[in-house]
Amino acid sequence: MKRRLLIVDDDREATRSLISQLACSHLIEVCGEASSAEEAWAKLHATRPELVLLGGIKDTERGILSQQFRLAFPHLSFIAACTASELMWEPFFRNLGIWVIAKPIQLGQVEALAMMAQGQIAATADSRQPQLQHNILSEHHDNVRDLPDSERHWKGLAGSEQNPRVKPKHLITVYGPKGGVGKTFISRELAIFFSTQKREGQPLKVLAVDFNLDLGTFATTLNLPRTPNLYTWVQDLDRQLHAYAESKGLDTYSIKPEEWQELASSLPLLPQQIERYTVVHSESGLDVLTSPRDIRQSFEIRDYHLYLILETLKRSNYDVILIDTAPDTTDATIQALFFAEHVVMVGNPVVDSIENIQRLLKLLREAEYPEERIQVCMNRLQRKEMFTLEEIRAYFQLHPSKKIFSIPDDSEVKKSINTGVPVMLQTGRSAARNAIETLGKALFPVDEVAKTPAAKEKKNEKASLFRWLWG
Ligand SMILES: Nc1ncnc2c1ncn2[C@@H]1O[C@H](COP(=O)(O)OP(=O)(O)OP(=O)(O)O)[C@@H](O)[C@H]1O
Ligand SMILES: [Mg+2]
Repeated sequence: MKRRLLIVDDDREATRSLISQLACSHLIEVCGEASSAEEAWAKLHATRPELVLLGGIKDTERGILSQQFRLAFPHLSFIAACTASELMWEPFFRNLGIWVIAKPIQLGQVEALAMMAQGQIAATADSRQPQLQHNILSEHHDNVRDLPDSERHWKGLAGSEQNPRVKPKHLITVYGPKGGVGKTFISRELAIFFSTQKREGQPLKVLAVDFNLDLGTFATTLNLPRTPNLYTWVQDLDRQLHAYAESKGLDTYSIKPEEWQELASSLPLLPQQIERYTVVHSESGLDVLTSPRDIRQSFEIRDYHLYLILETLKRSNYDVILIDTAPDTTDATIQALFFAEHVVMVGNPVVDSIENIQRLLKLLREAEYPEERIQVCMNRLQRKEMFTLEEIRAYFQLHPSKKIFSIPDDSEVKKSINTGVPVMLQTGRSAARNAIETLGKALFPVDEVAKTPAAKEKKNEKASLFRWLWG
C-alpha cells in the first residue's frame, strides 16, 4: 500500500515539481498540499496522511509545528526539506525525530525515507524505548559519515532495550575536551549524589568508572585504594579470551589483533563478576572501578577490552553508572561517549574551553550523534563572566529548549578534593552542591525527599513573615 504524504510548503513551484515527480511513485501518494499552518491543520484532519514533508512556511518554526502536529497525530512521520543554508539545523531536526533531506528533492530520497518511516512505526509498536527511534533515525540516514567501523557499531548501543529483563539503567559519561575543567570533580559529586538517592523507594546502586586509563585520579579524590582496578578486569578478560580461543581449537600464539576482536564479540559476558574489580566507598556505598595503577598497564588495554567492559556494565544491575573520561579523543573516550545515555559536556567559561566544546559538538553532529543525549555544563562560573550562558548557547547552536547547566566557582572544591570528602557529603548547603543536585536530577529522576512537617512549618512561617513585611 502506498504511503500518504502531505506536502507543507509555501514554495508553490517546489511543491508542483515534487508532486509531478511523485506521480509515478509506487510507494508514495500525495494526499494533499498546504502553504500555511492553518491549511496544514485542515488537510491533516481531512486527508489523514502518514508522512508530512515540511518544506518551509514563512514565520513558522518547523520544529514547533511538527511537535504540535505530533501531539494531535502521534503516528505521523516528518521530513524537513532544507535549502543548503538551512542544513545547519539538521541536528536539531533530528533531535526532534524529523528526517532531513536537501532541496531540490529527489524522488528516491523521499521514497527511501517513507520506507524507513514504516520500519520505524513497526519498531515503536514493538514497545521498545523511545531511544530506539533515534537510533533508527541516525543509523539509516543515507549519509554514512566517516566514523571508524567500530564507532559506527557503538552508535546503536545506548539504552538497555536489548534485554528486557535487565532493569533500566543509566550510563552517564562526563566529558570535556579540555584538561582541568572539572570532569573528575563533577563525576565524583554526581556519583555520590546518586548513591545517596532512592528511586521508587529503593536505594540506587551506583558505579563510578575511571576511564582516564593512563593518568586517572578518581580513586585519589575519594581516598580509595587502587587495587583491584580496570586492569585486573582486563587481565581476567584476556584469560577468558585465551580459554575461549583454545576451546575453539585455535592457536593463541598466531591469533591476529582483529581476530581477538572477533572472538571478543562472541565471548559470554559475566555481569555478576563486576564486583571482583571494584572498590567500595564505604561512606556512600558507591562502587568504583578505578584506573590502572601503572601507566604501562594502560598501554595493554585494547579496544575490545573496553568494548567487553562497557557491554558488561550495560548488562549489570547498577542503576546509574558514571564514567569519568580524559580530555582526549582516544578510543576509550569515544566508546564511553557512544555507549552513554547521557553525556555531561563540561567546560569552563573561558574561550579555549568553549572553542573545544564547539569543535567536539561539530564532530558529534557530523557523526550523527543524538544530540539530545548531551547536557552542556559550565563549571567554575564566577559572579561576573565575560561570556553569558546565552552567548555560549548561541555559539554552540544549541536547541532553544536546551538548558546549559552551571556550577559556581567555589573555594570549598579544592579543599574537598584534597581531603577526599565530596561536597555532596558535607553538612550544610552550598551553591555548588545545589547546582550538582539540579544537574543530577535532570540526568536521572530520583525520588523527592518528603519534607518533614517541621521543615514545612518553618517555610510557611517564613513566607508569612515576608508577606507581613511587604504586604
Ligand atoms: N566548581 C569549582 N570551583 C572551584 N574549583 C574547582 C571547581 N571545579 C573544579 N575545580 C578545581 O579544578 C581542579 C581540576 O578539576 P578536575 O580534576 O575535576 O578537572 P578534570 O577536568 O577532571 O581534569 P583532567 O582533564 O586533568 O582530568 C580541581 O582540582 C579543583 O581544584
Ligand atoms: Mg579528570
